[in-house]
Amino acid sequence: NSIDAFMRGIPKAELHLHIEGSLEPELMFALAHKHGVKLPYASVEELRNAYQFDDLQSFLDLYYAGAAVLRDEDDFHALTMAYLKRVHADGVVHVEIFFDPQTHTERGIAFATVIDGIRRALADGEREFGITHRLIMCFLRHLDAADAMRTLEQALPYKDAIVAVGLDSSERGHPPSKFEAVFSRARSEGFLAVAHAGEEGPPAYIIEALDLLKVARVDHGVRCEEDPALVQRLVQDRMPLTVCPLSNVKLRVVERMQDHNLKRLLDRGLCVTINSDDPAYFGGYMFANFQAAQRGLDLSREDITQLAANSIEASFLRAAEKKHWQ
Ligand code: ADE
Ligand code: ZN
Repeated sequence: NSIDAFMRGIPKAELHLHIEGSLEPELMFALAHKHGVKLPYASVEELRNAYQFDDLQSFLDLYYAGAAVLRDEDDFHALTMAYLKRVHADGVVHVEIFFDPQTHTERGIAFATVIDGIRRALADGEREFGITHRLIMCFLRHLDAADAMRTLEQALPYKDAIVAVGLDSSERGHPPSKFEAVFSRARSEGFLAVAHAGEEGPPAYIIEALDLLKVARVDHGVRCEEDPALVQRLVQDRMPLTVCPLSNVKLRVVERMQDHNLKRLLDRGLCVTINSDDPAYFGGYMFANFQAAQRGLDLSREDITQLAANSIEASFLRAAEKKHWQ
């Protein structure tokens, strides 16, 4: 199929990828065995069958439990390397990876163990596959702001390795305003900012992310459509939305792919991009997300070209690096 070859071949950047969400069941079992951790599933198949979610929280419960097999630097290296190898085959040329340090430091894993393993893989991946990278540290919004502030302080020695801070986990009841002071400190330390907003939460959370956290991109943001003035603002400012089509269907943000607003937002002139979020849990990496959206929404070659161009435009690459892909 020629549109598939086109989608796979076109250079694109992935801007919304939780590295812990790329943990495939096979690697989860291998690491569980390595560390003598007991998983509550008898087999890879049984685990995969458990990946049926009602909403964001039902997914997060499984995602945090799965991450418990990640214990040493080599685990984080293997996790990140497997992801890079996989998306190299999908035509991804640049990645901006989220990691959730609190998921690990809460279990007694050192911050350094996590980031050193990921960084070593990113460097290896650049050498082996030519994939460039940025790293984004996310705060877990279900934890309190003081915990996020302590995490930010732990990250200061790694400033040069982390381009931005982000905000993820349970959205409802945890508005961006809760983290205004943390993000203000982060920006004063030189970090850029992004935040998950408008995935399950209301458009008001997107407005808070823009006004209070001063984000350079909105992760998901699909509920912006409920507020026409907000949509107009996002278009005017060319504020990128990192949309995750398969995730939105799996977590029932939309009922079916045909109902997704990606194409409408694209046609309105928004800088929307396609991303995989947590590919091991949601049924596919970058190409699978492009393919599912293309089929469900009847996207044209021009749409695909625009989506890929948006991903480069919305990235944190330097202007000269963007030029190379434009
Ligand atoms: N953590 C991993 N994936 C997430 C998502 N889609 N929304 C919020 N937090 C997440
Ligand atoms: Zn996400």
